[in-house]
Amino acid sequence: MAERYNNIIEFDEISSTNNYANDLVLQKIVPDFTIIKTNFQTKGRGQIGNSWISNKGDNLLFSIILHPTHLQASNQFILSQCVALALRDTIANFCKNVCVKWPNDIYVNDKKIAGILIENKLLGKQIESSIIGIGLNVNQTNFVGAPNPTSLALECPNLCPFNIDDLLFKFLDIFKSYYFESQQNEQEIKSKYFQNLYLLKKLHTFEDSIGQFDGFITNIAPDGRLLIVDTENKERWYYFKEVLF
Ligand code: BTN
Repeated sequence: MAERYNNIIEFDEISSTNNYANDLVLQKIVPDFTIIKTNFQTKGRGQIGNSWISNKGDNLLFSIILHPTHLQASNQFILSQCVALALRDTIANFCKNVCVKWPNDIYVNDKKIAGILIENKLLGKQIESSIIGIGLNVNQTNFVGAPNPTSLALECPNLCPFNIDDLLFKFLDIFKSYYFESQQNEQEIKSKYFQNLYLLKKLHTFEDSIGQFDGFITNIAPDGRLLIVDTENKERWYYFKEVLF
Protein backbone atom coordinates (compact mmCIF):
# COMPACT_ATOMS: atom_id res chain seq x y z
CA MET A 1 0.00 0.00 0.00
CA ALA A 2 1.16 3.51 -0.75
CA GLU A 3 2.82 5.30 2.15
CA ARG A 4 0.79 8.22 3.58
CA TYR A 5 2.37 11.58 4.28
CA ASN A 6 1.67 13.62 7.41
CA ASN A 7 3.59 16.78 6.76
CA ILE A 8 1.44 18.31 4.04
CA ILE A 9 0.64 22.01 4.34
CA GLU A 10 -2.18 22.84 1.95
CA PHE A 11 -3.40 26.17 0.62
CA ASP A 12 -6.26 27.07 -1.65
CA GLU A 13 -4.19 29.99 -2.95
CA ILE A 14 -0.65 31.17 -2.28
CA SER A 15 1.97 33.29 -4.09
CA SER A 16 4.30 30.35 -4.76
CA THR A 17 4.83 27.08 -2.92
CA ASN A 18 8.59 27.50 -3.40
CA ASN A 19 8.47 30.96 -1.82
CA TYR A 20 6.49 29.65 1.15
CA ALA A 21 8.88 26.71 1.59
CA ASN A 22 11.92 29.02 1.38
CA ASP A 23 10.45 31.28 4.09
CA LEU A 24 9.63 28.28 6.28
CA VAL A 25 13.17 26.86 6.27
CA LEU A 26 14.50 30.31 7.19
CA GLN A 27 12.13 30.52 10.19
CA LYS A 28 12.41 27.08 11.79
CA ILE A 29 13.58 23.49 11.60
CA VAL A 30 11.34 21.71 9.11
CA PRO A 31 11.26 17.90 8.84
CA ASP A 32 12.38 16.32 5.58
CA PHE A 33 9.57 15.53 3.13
CA THR A 34 7.41 18.41 4.35
CA ILE A 35 5.14 19.24 1.41
CA ILE A 36 3.62 22.61 0.54
CA LYS A 37 0.72 22.17 -1.87
CA THR A 38 -1.75 24.59 -3.41
CA ASN A 39 -4.65 24.81 -5.86
CA PHE A 40 -3.47 28.12 -7.25
CA GLN A 41 -0.37 30.34 -7.30
CA THR A 42 -0.52 34.09 -7.83
CA LYS A 43 3.25 34.27 -8.48
CA GLY A 44 4.19 30.76 -9.59
CA ARG A 45 7.83 30.69 -10.62
CA GLY A 46 9.53 28.73 -13.39
CA GLN A 47 13.17 28.35 -14.36
CA ILE A 48 15.37 31.33 -15.28
CA GLY A 49 12.93 33.91 -13.94
CA ASN A 50 9.95 32.71 -16.00
CA SER A 51 6.51 32.51 -14.45
CA TRP A 52 4.50 29.29 -14.06
CA ILE A 53 0.83 29.84 -14.83
CA SER A 54 -1.77 27.22 -14.01
CA ASN A 55 -5.60 27.22 -13.89
CA LYS A 56 -7.09 27.07 -10.40
CA GLY A 57 -7.61 23.52 -9.10
CA ASP A 58 -6.64 21.79 -12.33
CA ASN A 59 -3.03 20.87 -11.71
CA LEU A 60 -0.56 19.51 -9.20
CA LEU A 61 1.51 22.35 -7.72
CA PHE A 62 3.75 21.62 -4.77
CA SER A 63 7.17 21.91 -3.16
CA ILE A 64 9.13 19.41 -1.08
CA ILE A 65 11.54 20.46 1.66
CA LEU A 66 14.66 18.31 2.11
CA HIS A 67 18.01 18.59 3.87
CA PRO A 68 20.31 16.48 1.70
CA THR A 69 23.34 17.14 3.91
CA HIS A 70 24.91 13.87 2.69
CA LEU A 71 25.35 15.42 -0.77
CA GLN A 72 28.34 17.46 -1.89
CA ALA A 73 27.31 20.71 -3.57
CA SER A 74 29.32 19.62 -6.61
CA ASN A 75 27.06 16.57 -6.88
CA GLN A 76 23.70 18.34 -6.51
CA PHE A 77 22.56 17.28 -9.98
CA ILE A 78 21.84 13.77 -8.63
CA LEU A 79 18.88 15.26 -6.74
CA SER A 80 17.53 16.76 -9.92
CA GLN A 81 17.92 13.37 -11.60
CA CYS A 82 15.94 11.62 -8.83
CA VAL A 83 13.11 14.16 -9.07
CA ALA A 84 12.95 14.04 -12.86
CA LEU A 85 12.95 10.22 -12.91
CA ALA A 86 10.22 9.99 -10.26
CA LEU A 87 8.05 12.45 -12.15
CA ARG A 88 8.68 10.61 -15.39
CA ASP A 89 7.72 7.27 -13.82
CA THR A 90 4.57 8.74 -12.21
CA ILE A 91 3.38 10.03 -15.59
CA ALA A 92 4.44 6.83 -17.35
CA ASN A 93 1.81 5.00 -15.27
CA PHE A 94 -0.72 6.61 -17.59
CA CYS A 95 1.01 7.70 -20.84
CA LYS A 96 3.49 6.31 -23.35
CA ASN A 97 6.57 8.20 -24.63
CA VAL A 98 7.37 10.02 -21.39
CA CYS A 99 10.94 11.27 -21.11
CA VAL A 100 13.18 13.84 -19.45
CA LYS A 101 14.26 16.79 -21.53
CA TRP A 102 17.63 17.76 -20.14
CA PRO A 103 18.05 18.98 -17.53
CA ASN A 104 14.65 18.42 -15.88
CA ASP A 105 11.58 19.10 -18.01
CA ILE A 106 9.20 16.20 -18.45
CA TYR A 107 7.97 15.62 -21.98
CA VAL A 108 5.22 13.43 -23.44
CA ASN A 109 5.08 13.07 -27.21
CA ASP A 110 7.38 16.09 -27.75
CA LYS A 111 5.38 18.39 -25.44
CA LYS A 112 6.09 19.63 -21.92
CA ILE A 113 3.81 18.15 -19.26
CA ALA A 114 5.75 19.09 -16.10
CA GLY A 115 8.44 21.45 -14.87
CA ILE A 116 10.80 21.33 -11.90
CA LEU A 117 12.36 24.24 -10.03
CA ILE A 118 14.96 23.16 -7.45
CA GLU A 119 16.43 25.80 -5.14
CA ASN A 120 19.38 24.61 -3.04
CA LYS A 121 20.93 26.50 -0.14
CA LEU A 122 24.60 25.67 0.16
CA LEU A 123 26.68 25.66 3.33
CA GLY A 124 30.34 25.45 2.33
CA LYS A 125 30.63 22.36 0.16
CA GLN A 126 27.39 20.80 1.46
CA ILE A 127 23.72 21.29 0.62
CA GLU A 128 21.98 22.67 3.70
CA SER A 129 18.45 22.60 2.34
CA SER A 130 16.68 21.97 -0.90
CA ILE A 131 13.30 23.22 -2.06
CA ILE A 132 11.98 21.07 -4.88
CA GLY A 133 9.11 22.77 -6.71
CA ILE A 134 7.01 20.79 -9.16
CA GLY A 135 4.23 21.78 -11.53
CA LEU A 136 2.48 18.89 -13.27
CA ASN A 137 -0.27 19.67 -15.78
CA VAL A 138 -3.12 17.33 -14.88
CA ASN A 139 -6.73 18.22 -15.77
CA GLN A 140 -6.10 21.49 -17.64
CA THR A 141 -6.85 21.31 -21.37
CA ASN A 142 -6.49 24.92 -22.54
CA PHE A 143 -3.17 26.72 -22.21
CA VAL A 144 -2.52 30.36 -23.07
CA GLY A 145 1.01 31.61 -23.70
CA ALA A 146 2.93 28.46 -22.77
CA PRO A 147 5.17 27.44 -25.69
CA ASN A 148 4.61 23.71 -26.03
CA PRO A 149 2.31 22.44 -23.27
CA THR A 150 0.36 19.27 -22.68
CA SER A 151 -1.36 17.63 -19.70
CA LEU A 152 -2.45 14.20 -18.51
CA ALA A 153 -6.01 15.10 -19.59
CA LEU A 154 -4.86 15.92 -23.13
CA GLU A 155 -2.65 12.83 -23.41
CA CYS A 156 -5.13 10.34 -21.91
CA PRO A 157 -8.64 11.83 -22.07
CA ASN A 158 -10.23 8.46 -21.31
CA LEU A 159 -8.72 8.56 -17.76
CA CYS A 160 -9.85 12.13 -17.05
CA PRO A 161 -10.49 13.66 -14.52
CA PHE A 162 -7.39 12.58 -12.60
CA ASN A 163 -7.28 12.65 -8.80
CA ILE A 164 -4.56 15.20 -8.01
CA ASP A 165 -3.84 13.91 -4.47
CA ASP A 166 -3.38 10.35 -5.74
CA LEU A 167 -0.81 11.65 -8.22
CA LEU A 168 1.04 13.45 -5.43
CA PHE A 169 1.19 10.30 -3.27
CA LYS A 170 2.29 8.17 -6.21
CA PHE A 171 5.04 10.63 -7.00
CA LEU A 172 6.21 10.84 -3.38
CA ASP A 173 6.45 7.06 -3.04
CA ILE A 174 8.55 6.79 -6.20
CA PHE A 175 10.68 9.82 -5.39
CA LYS A 176 11.46 8.54 -1.88
CA SER A 177 12.70 5.29 -3.28
CA TYR A 178 14.96 7.03 -5.86
CA TYR A 179 16.21 9.45 -3.21
CA PHE A 180 17.25 6.65 -0.85
CA GLU A 181 18.63 4.55 -3.70
CA SER A 182 20.79 7.51 -4.77
CA GLN A 183 22.50 7.29 -1.36
CA GLN A 184 23.47 3.65 -2.03
CA ASN A 185 23.85 3.44 -5.78
CA GLU A 186 24.31 6.74 -7.56
CA GLN A 187 25.38 5.06 -10.75
CA GLU A 188 22.05 3.29 -11.14
CA ILE A 189 20.18 6.63 -10.97
CA LYS A 190 22.57 8.28 -13.41
CA SER A 191 22.23 5.50 -15.91
CA LYS A 192 18.43 5.36 -15.65
CA TYR A 193 18.25 9.14 -16.08
CA PHE A 194 20.46 8.91 -19.16
CA GLN A 195 18.38 6.13 -20.71
CA ASN A 196 15.22 8.22 -20.32
CA LEU A 197 16.54 11.37 -21.99
CA TYR A 198 14.51 13.05 -24.71
CA LEU A 199 16.18 12.73 -28.15
CA LEU A 200 18.75 10.25 -26.89
CA LYS A 201 20.61 8.61 -29.80
CA LYS A 202 18.61 10.68 -32.31
CA LEU A 203 20.29 13.03 -34.75
CA HIS A 204 18.90 16.48 -33.97
CA THR A 205 19.51 20.16 -34.70
CA PHE A 206 20.78 22.11 -31.68
CA GLU A 207 21.55 25.80 -31.26
CA ASP A 208 24.25 27.42 -29.13
CA SER A 209 25.62 30.98 -28.95
CA ILE A 210 27.51 30.43 -32.22
CA GLY A 211 24.67 28.99 -34.28
CA GLN A 212 22.91 25.81 -35.29
CA PHE A 213 24.52 22.41 -35.65
CA ASP A 214 23.48 18.77 -35.93
CA GLY A 215 24.54 16.22 -33.36
CA PHE A 216 23.72 13.54 -30.82
CA ILE A 217 23.23 13.74 -27.05
CA THR A 218 26.07 11.53 -25.82
CA ASN A 219 26.70 11.98 -22.09
CA ILE A 220 25.93 13.86 -18.87
CA ALA A 221 28.71 15.02 -16.52
CA PRO A 222 28.32 14.63 -12.70
CA ASP A 223 27.74 18.40 -12.48
CA GLY A 224 24.86 18.10 -14.96
CA ARG A 225 26.57 19.39 -18.11
CA LEU A 226 25.30 17.91 -21.35
CA LEU A 227 27.67 16.47 -23.95
CA ILE A 228 26.61 16.70 -27.58
CA VAL A 229 28.85 15.20 -30.26
CA ASP A 230 28.29 16.98 -33.56
CA THR A 231 28.35 15.44 -37.03
CA GLU A 232 32.06 16.38 -37.37
CA ASN A 233 32.74 14.34 -34.24
CA LYS A 234 33.50 17.42 -32.14
CA GLU A 235 32.58 17.22 -28.43
CA ARG A 236 30.52 20.16 -27.17
CA TRP A 237 29.74 20.49 -23.42
CA TYR A 238 26.91 22.73 -22.18
CA TYR A 239 25.58 24.08 -18.92
CA PHE A 240 21.83 24.67 -18.56
CA LYS A 241 20.49 27.22 -21.07
CA GLU A 242 23.71 27.30 -23.11
CA VAL A 243 22.09 25.11 -25.76
CA LEU A 244 18.56 25.09 -27.18
CA PHE A 245 16.68 22.20 -28.68
C1 BTN B 1 9.87 25.26 -15.13
O1 BTN B 1 10.09 26.41 -15.53
O2 BTN B 1 9.78 24.32 -15.93
C2 BTN B 1 9.74 24.97 -13.66
C3 BTN B 1 8.34 25.15 -13.20
C4 BTN B 1 8.14 24.86 -11.72
C5 BTN B 1 6.75 25.23 -11.26
C6 BTN B 1 6.47 24.78 -9.86
S1 BTN B 1 4.76 24.94 -9.44
C7 BTN B 1 5.11 24.62 -7.76
C8 BTN B 1 6.42 25.32 -7.44
N1 BTN B 1 6.19 26.67 -7.02
C9 BTN B 1 6.64 27.58 -7.89
O3 BTN B 1 6.54 28.81 -7.79
N2 BTN B 1 7.23 26.94 -8.91
C10 BTN B 1 7.21 25.51 -8.75
